[in-house]
Amino acid sequence: MATKNGKVALITGANKGLGKEIGRQLGLRGYTVVLAARNEAAGKAAAAELAAIGCDVHPVRLEVTNADDIAGVVLYLEKTFGKLDVLVNNAGIALEWDGNPTDADKIRRTLEVNLIAPYAITAALVPLLARSDDARVINQSSQLGSLGNAEKAWEYVGRFSTVGYATSKAGLNMLTLIQSKTLADKGIAVAAAHPGWVKTDLGSQAAPMEVEEGASTVVELATMAREQFPHGQLIHKGERLPW
Ligand SMILES: NC(=O)c1ccc[n+]([C@@H]2O[C@H](COP(=O)([O-])OP(=O)(O)OC[C@H]3O[C@@H](n4cnc5c(N)ncnc54)[C@H](OP(=O)(O)O)[C@@H]3O)[C@@H](O)[C@H]2O)c1
Repeated sequence: MATKNGKVALITGANKGLGKEIGRQLGLRGYTVVLAARNEAAGKAAAAELAAIGCDVHPVRLEVTNADDIAGVVLYLEKTFGKLDVLVNNAGIALEWDGNPTDADKIRRTLEVNLIAPYAITAALVPLLARSDDARVINQSSQLGSLGNAEKAWEYVGRFSTVGYATSKAGLNMLTLIQSKTLADKGIAVAAAHPGWVKTDLGSQAAPMEVEEGASTVVELATMAREQFPHGQLIHKGERLPW
């Protein structure tokens, strides 16, 4: 078992892909990992894998768009740990890369998961985060949500910049900035991460980056010295990206 460091991290969408790998890396560094998944069986299976390598990991059910599930996780954290140190809003979907045209329903569903859910989950957890002496919220975003990048590098990002996904991440970037301003007085630091283009079910096997490296941006944000935390910025591997 990794030596516990007393910090509790909740990661959404952590049954696979980047979320699970972030859980693995934080767990090996001594964080107590609350591994949230909408599919309970998949969450328990991922938690068992991480427990087998020495992580202190606790699976919880969280369909991120479900208010009852959110309330259940808040209650669980309150009763079990009495606080939350790190929230990683990681769960996300990209419904428009299936070769079919974007439509209003796909855009609506994407915004619900990628933007509205991180807002609702963070809002519900503010009281528990406020009890931490080093609270951090990390929103798993994307450079596809960067207006500056779309303007400058359309040749590269344009083919991936589908309306629902890109606007959901642009919205998440603005949410990050707003949260960084409004939660500062509660001692809650907030940043957004771009993991890179990573081999996962969402990123596809065509992606150049392995999941270990893709998780590193969030893990670094979660673990770096508090004075260095890039409050209110979008970060990729330690570098600031344009909004
Ligand atoms: N991979 C990349 O290249 C890349 C690049 C930039 C940003 N990102 C971001 O990184 C995050 C993780 O993506 P990934 O690449 O690891 O993709 P992934 O392997 O497809 O994992 C996505 C995770 O989100 C969960 N999820 C989706 N909808 C959910 C919902 N309504 N409620 C609860 N959980 C839900 C999935 O659960 P199920 O297994 O139940 O579907 C899964 O655990 C996403 O926010 C994505 O936008 C990824």
